[in-house]
Amino acid sequence: MKQAKNILEVRNIHKDFSGLQVLTGVDFTVAENEKHAVIGPNGAGKTTLFNIITGNYKPSSGKIIFKETDVTGKPPHILTRMNMSRSFQITNVFPEMSVFENVRAGVRSRQGLRYNFLKRPERVAGINQKTEDILEQVGLTDVMSEPVSALSYGRQRALEIGITLSTEPELILLDEPTAGMTREETAEAIRMINEVTTGRTLIIIEHDMDVVFSLADTISVLHYGTILASDKPDEIRNDQKVKDAYLGEE
Ligand SMILES: Nc1ncnc2c1ncn2[C@@H]1O[C@H](COP(=O)(O)OP(=O)(O)OP(=O)(O)O)[C@@H](O)[C@H]1O
Ligand SMILES: [Mg+2]
Repeated sequence: MKQAKNILEVRNIHKDFSGLQVLTGVDFTVAENEKHAVIGPNGAGKTTLFNIITGNYKPSSGKIIFKETDVTGKPPHILTRMNMSRSFQITNVFPEMSVFENVRAGVRSRQGLRYNFLKRPERVAGINQKTEDILEQVGLTDVMSEPVSALSYGRQRALEIGITLSTEPELILLDEPTAGMTREETAEAIRMINEVTTGRTLIIIEHDMDVVFSLADTISVLHYGTILASDKPDEIRNDQKVKDAYLGEE
């Protein structure tokens, strides 16, 4: 069987914050079109790892290879242009603006770069169409004219994912997208995430093991700053080291 190409390689990443060693040699790879979950206890360094992959933090040492290019230390806007996209916290949306306008702002930033040779009316129509498509995918068509502040919490999180999609990502990183959701909202969010990430690569940080085991093709367990195991869900479930360190606690 042909081995899928790796879209991301995390090589021996170390990170310390003024003496506090948070990551002490993190290694794992993510194949194209894989759904990859990163799990581990609170404070394990999962969000820090995301911040390094997305260029928000520079690692103390180690390398990030994205699409066969060394992107270590490259700033977030360069990675966005290379089609990496991360969900941002809801504080990055404009609450008084409509749902439509929030997604359109992201689409416009991308299409402005790609289609600036087109005449204005075609361009505007294209941007509006793309925005409507995204809203449909994340299930927000019925509230697209509402201000974001009027949405329920679960639907605000869906909007975050919509904004993440607006830059046509190949690799999407979601940090606990179902945190704080009800069971029903979580089930709906998983279905939607599964759908919108088809044909793309997903890395998701998640505490809810139902979400992890129903979504992920591969799971990496981050524990005390290193990867304890990175494997298929069944292997992770039966891994004695993982059970002892993490899953056993549940
Ligand atoms: N900018 C920073 N400056 C100093 N310390 C930081 C910084 N960011 C994270 N840390 C520390 O790094 C450690 C790992 O934090 P991180 O947020 O990456 O963990 P996490 O695995 O995402 O946890 P959680 O599951 O609670 O979200 C913590 O001890 C945290 O206090
Ligand atoms: Mg975190």
